Amino acid sequence: MIELRDLRKEFAGVTALEGISLSVAAGEIHGIVGRSGAGKSTLIRCLTGLEPATSGSAVVDGLDITQQRGAALRRSRRSIGMVFQHANLLDSRTALANVEHPLQVAGVPRAERRARARELLDLVGLSDRAGNHPAQLSGGQQQRVGIARALATEPRILLCDEPTSALDTQTTGQILSLISSLRDRLDITVLIITHEMSVVREICDSATLLENGAVTQTGSLQEILSSPGTPLAKDLVPLPPSPQGIDGRALEVSLAGTSLAQVFALARAAGAPEAEVESGTLETIDGKPVGRIRLLCADRDARDALSSILRDGGIHVEEAA
Ligand SMILES: Nc1ncnc2c1ncn2[C@@H]1O[C@H](COP(=O)(O)OP(=O)(O)O)[C@@H](O)[C@H]1O
Ligand SMILES: [Mg+2]
Repeated sequence: MIELRDLRKEFAGVTALEGISLSVAAGEIHGIVGRSGAGKSTLIRCLTGLEPATSGSAVVDGLDITQQRGAALRRSRRSIGMVFQHANLLDSRTALANVEHPLQVAGVPRAERRARARELLDLVGLSDRAGNHPAQLSGGQQQRVGIARALATEPRILLCDEPTSALDTQTTGQILSLISSLRDRLDITVLIITHEMSVVREICDSATLLENGAVTQTGSLQEILSSPGTPLAKDLVPLPPSPQGIDGRALEVSLAGTSLAQVFALARAAGAPEAEVESGTLETIDGKPVGRIRLLCADRDARDALSSILRDGGIHVEEAA
């Protein structure tokens, strides 16, 4: 498990992290999202001890990384696997030799590390590519080798910094399902940093929003989805941009456990004016309807009447600008 307590990081005058407290339970896949410059990479670097924290602690499996130095820090780092946007494989080495590399550094005998590297390549679905050099592999395959390499020292946690940002949509899906299946098979804890909400939707159990070096929202996916109107809930269930010419007539309705049919039944029973569904996103997550719908009313008065009826019925609504 991972536990950050009031973790701060300052770079000559710039506060990159201001007192981050966060815990990720063992076996969980936790997403950290935030805009560029929010402090995501700094967080990961402090968590691995690559960057010394200014204050606070970063505890990984009971060990405070911020308190470790030298050889002890290098040892602790082996219990943390890292995956980056680009696999940065050694071009002169085969896929197998790339996976072996961290084991070689750790002094594992040749036969043993070779056997382990083969197992890992098999685990990421690349056993038939062991003898290929990076130039002979696709971006997705290179990332698989990078993941196998990150797992070579049998880490308990896997930190992924934008692991799919350089990949196309289909390859992204494959890498995400690989990460998810590795979590299930190896029982590792995964922290995945991303600017793509789709990554969170696809594989995370919980997520944190980082803004200007601070946590502004955190929770399990269920918690987030049942807090309509919050930034993460809106990002998880996006609406297409508003079309032109609907000024004052549009109402955005968030569904968190209530179906669209129930919303319409509620409106009808209260004698609300008619509205059309202009656009929307609907999903069923854990058997519950979750979504955001943009309704278009005849005019502003109709919108306001519908809005107050739904609000009184406990539905989260926002009058679109
Ligand atoms: N080595 C550094 N020296 C000075 N400022 C840095 C350094 N690394 C990061 N920063 C600053 O810290 C903030 C967070 O950066 P970063 O963690 O890279 O954000 P993200 O990964 O979310 O895009 C930014 O304002 C960035 O300019
Ligand atoms: Mg970054």
